[in-house]
Amino acid sequence: MPTLVPDTVASERIALPRDCSFQPDDWHVLSRSWFPVARGEDVAGKPVTARLLDLDLVVYRTNGVARVARDLCSHRGAALSLGWVEDDMIVCPYHGFHYGPDGACRSVPAHPGMAISPKLRITAFPVVERFGLIWTTLNGDEKPVLPEFEAWEDSDYQSIMAPTIDINGSAGRQMEGFLDVAHFAWAHIESFGDRNNPIVPTYKVTRTPRGIRADYVSSVSNYPKGMQHLAPPDFEWLRVFEVFPPFSARLIVHFPDGGRLWILNAASPVAARKTRLFCPLARNFDKDGSVEAVHQFNLQIFNEDKRIVESQKPEDLPLDIQMEAHIAADRTSIAYRKLLKEMGLGQLYVS
Ligand code: FES
Ligand SMILES: [Fe+2]
Repeated sequence: MPTLVPDTVASERIALPRDCSFQPDDWHVLSRSWFPVARGEDVAGKPVTARLLDLDLVVYRTNGVARVARDLCSHRGAALSLGWVEDDMIVCPYHGFHYGPDGACRSVPAHPGMAISPKLRITAFPVVERFGLIWTTLNGDEKPVLPEFEAWEDSDYQSIMAPTIDINGSAGRQMEGFLDVAHFAWAHIESFGDRNNPIVPTYKVTRTPRGIRADYVSSVSNYPKGMQHLAPPDFEWLRVFEVFPPFSARLIVHFPDGGRLWILNAASPVAARKTRLFCPLARNFDKDGSVEAVHQFNLQIFNEDKRIVESQKPEDLPLDIQMEAHIAADRTSIAYRKLLKEMGLGQLYVS
């Protein structure tokens, strides 16, 4: 049976949102993790909205520094995202209250010079900008816990921010699809898979200090269709997957001649069945190649996956291993489900 968790846990910054679509236990666990909520390049002059774990957020910059707060003015509940930024403050569009980066109200224009109640403050969340993304946590520690993706900052690599993809499906199902190696010959035949090459050789999954790692060697090319002649005949493709729970995974694809492509699959749980996928990439080859072509190829692959993820039932990833049948090729996904279960997620499925 699910444990009973109160709506608010004493140490939490923020309580369970209204109309929460997650099981309360899951929401409390997930609210302690860090997730990306926007691409850095999409947040410039005007505040933008984001949604994380059913909570509406406003994302903006003050003097170039990314900020994330609840999209809710503490005076009459107007959306701060309709407002604007002045110096290091966000200004509410309804009565012009100004809030500093720590969330405290600094100006009530209707009553200049009067003391400002300490109750007048918005909820500001910890923020870090890394790998081209703005990350935050609702109830987690100030110290960021992010996936590892050093190639983004490596001068030998070209970093490319792929377009964001919105999926009507759960982050767990999307993540598992990213880790799945048996679907290339079926779901991805338009982009890179080969219907005549469906066999999944045995591969190894190991535990890492942060999560799991899978080293997968096969003859499935990672070049787009039409460019697959570029690999030497009989080239063995190594794909190294690493999972950073709950919803980030890194894939390093080993190309011919020492080429490396790093892909970060950072799934942000907008709601229990809505996911915003962020995908920074880095490569040490073709560095003057078309970025637009990379965007298109990436979009094509993730849209092929999206179609499948949006069709899966149940929508939530079943963490009780008995609930679905597995084949040997599913080694990574079984390990992934166990990892999420260890985090305390999916009590309903586990019981
Ligand atoms: S609602 Fe924001 S200032 Fe009144
Ligand atoms: Fe896929």
